[in-house]
Amino acid sequence: MIKTLLVSYSPRFESNTKKLIDTFLNVASDYSHVTHLDLGKDTPPFLLADNLNALVKRNLMGMELTEEENVSVKGVDRLLQQLLDADRIVIAFPMYNFSLPAAVKAWIDAVIQDGKTFKMTEDGGYEGLCAGKRALVLMTTGGDYSLEPAKSMDYATPLIQGCLGFMGISSHSISAYGLNQYEDRVEGIVSDAQQKIVDYITSNVFWK
Ligand SMILES: Cc1cc2nc3c(=O)[nH]c(=O)nc-3n(C[C@H](O)[C@H](O)[C@H](O)COP(=O)(O)O)c2cc1C
Repeated sequence: MIKTLLVSYSPRFESNTKKLIDTFLNVASDYSHVTHLDLGKDTPPFLLADNLNALVKRNLMGMELTEEENVSVKGVDRLLQQLLDADRIVIAFPMYNFSLPAAVKAWIDAVIQDGKTFKMTEDGGYEGLCAGKRALVLMTTGGDYSLEPAKSMDYATPLIQGCLGFMGISSHSISAYGLNQYEDRVEGIVSDAQQKIVDYITSNVFWK
């Protein structure tokens, strides 16, 4: 069975994002062993003075860490290890202020680590170290970002897919747009996205 890491952020009561997550879990549980990281309950650490400087010393400068510094990076390294252990990653969240909720960004900041998920190359470029992993991004939004000019205001999709790509992880994105804008069509928009999730998982051999 493939190992899937589900990273979710859907803290709102009656969350529509959670409906997409449940659809994924229903369809994927036949094919996949899923580890669920619920960022609404299990808050990822921010990079602050103690852990950030320890990561710089360890990852960029190749220095040994003190016991105290090792303790400070435990939280980010737990998230990193979960990602490294997974074959597939599903990341589900609502758009907040045209971008990712802070908890999702904090998860990204924890797992993008030099020498672990990417490395700099001799010619000054970079190489993702997670080739072979694949990701599915599930997002819900209040507005409709399917067409320009609004499309350019969706900073969340390019940001998350860009960060995944930086680690060598190719991704597919399914969004339920307009859940506040089209209040009378919420059920239809959510069920269209749910159908897209089912179709995507069942028709792609690498998700089985
Ligand atoms: C703090 C906050 C910020 C939001 N910012 C945006 C936004 O920039 N653009 C947008 O279209 N919707 C925005 N929304 C609306 C949510 O993305 C939308 O309602 C989403 O479907 C909520 O998902 P949920 O039902 O899982 O909570 C925001 C909602 C909250 C609570």
